[in-house]
Amino acid sequence: KVINNYFYDEAAYDYHDAGYVPLKEPQTPQQPLNIPGLLKPDKETATDMYYTIVAQTGEVQLIPGKKTQTWGYNGPLLGKTVVFKRGKTIHVHLVNHLPEVTTFHWHGLAIPGPIEDGGCHAPVYPGKSRDVTFKINQPAAFVWLHAHPCPSTAEQVWHGLAGGAIVQDDHEASLPLPRNYGVDDIPIILQDRRFHKDNQWDYRADYDPDGVAGPTPMINGTINPYFDVTTQKVRLRFLDGANRREFRLHFSDDLEFAQIAGDLSLLPHPVKMTKLLITCAERQEIIVDFGKYKPGDVVTLYSDDVPLVHFRIHEFKPDHTTLPQQLFETPDPAVDPNLPVHHVTLDGMDESVAINGKKFKMDRIDYKMPLHKVQIWDIENTNPAPGMIHPYHMHGTAFEVISRDGHAPYPNERGLKDTVAVNPGEHVRIKVWFNVAGVFMYHCHIIEHEDGGMMAQLQVVDPADPNKKYHLMNHM
Ligand code: C2O
Ligand code: CU
Ligand code: CU
Repeated sequence: KVINNYFYDEAAYDYHDAGYVPLKEPQTPQQPLNIPGLLKPDKETATDMYYTIVAQTGEVQLIPGKKTQTWGYNGPLLGKTVVFKRGKTIHVHLVNHLPEVTTFHWHGLAIPGPIEDGGCHAPVYPGKSRDVTFKINQPAAFVWLHAHPCPSTAEQVWHGLAGGAIVQDDHEASLPLPRNYGVDDIPIILQDRRFHKDNQWDYRADYDPDGVAGPTPMINGTINPYFDVTTQKVRLRFLDGANRREFRLHFSDDLEFAQIAGDLSLLPHPVKMTKLLITCAERQEIIVDFGKYKPGDVVTLYSDDVPLVHFRIHEFKPDHTTLPQQLFETPDPAVDPNLPVHHVTLDGMDESVAINGKKFKMDRIDYKMPLHKVQIWDIENTNPAPGMIHPYHMHGTAFEVISRDGHAPYPNERGLKDTVAVNPGEHVRIKVWFNVAGVFMYHCHIIEHEDGGMMAQLQVVDPADPNKKYHLMNHM
């Protein structure tokens, strides 16, 4: 069976809200898609990996004319792709060469908070550095790094502080999936920008409390990209790195593809589809089979009717591998009978956004949860339709979607996730548990909603050290 809808209620699509900025096809010449290089470890041993990540300013020739002033990690814009091997201990030297304070948040890593996690309690001031160490103990996934200083996360991400990271494990490595990075395994970071005078971005001019958007698609930091296809099958690791935009992905000819992974794991089984919706911060991995095309053909990836990437078909060897029908066994731990359902409401729009009626406060713990215990959380978007989808995200954990308004979750959200789209009026139930202690944020990942206060934080309490005190900042 092939899925050929986006699942979401038409009324929930982002273009129904007043501030919606439609995407437009760029009129500038096509450019080769930028493939972020792999970040070279400073050192790697059998048990440890060492990296240095520098947040810096730079400039990039994005469109003809003046270069655009940008920010990035170890480069002028976005970041290099970081590889984490499961089981290894990671040491990261974080350096801030920006003119303002930033933080380095590992979105999707189950590592202790609030310091290693890199949310707003782990500032790195201009000219300063911070060293963090954490162990990777989670399934293979495509995660990401982004700035998270409160309340200027959105502006810093808009400047370019976002990059991909790949968690590798033996199970994923044993499956016949494309993984030749840059050739048949490609990160696709979906963003959008507006170019102002002299080709510059102007976050303040474009500011909208319901999320900043621009009309120009930017993919891996490339405007109007093409990609040279040299293998029959290509794995695309989509990351919606936009501040507020959803992308409704589909190919020319309604080309069928198979989704193999979501945010934090492979899916139990591949899901065949022709349409795929991705909301802010989500990751969706697909395998595209270009077998029916010949050299010279072009297959286009669209969001709605706007081209995002042109896949130029070249000569390739026939590839007869078939996708395994079993990809992953999603853990399904039993809910603790002593933990009642925890209700979270995502409230309001514009400046009035909140969680459970409250705006985020850096030095307030909103909830406590015992380490390793499993609880059902009910996430409600209290805006009536047509309103906005709130992509609900939790730090430090991988959760499982249990139901949507009492119905089964969508077939492509049956793996582990860290972000789930909640439609207007909808209740999404998720199973939550933490394998690491600490203080973690949970919030809407429309980044302006997060900065505007649709964010809260919980403390995961280790019974072995129940009175552990965390140093919480009260401003940056
Ligand atoms: Cu992408 Cu608070 O996170
Ligand atoms: Cu996060
Ligand atoms: Cu929101």
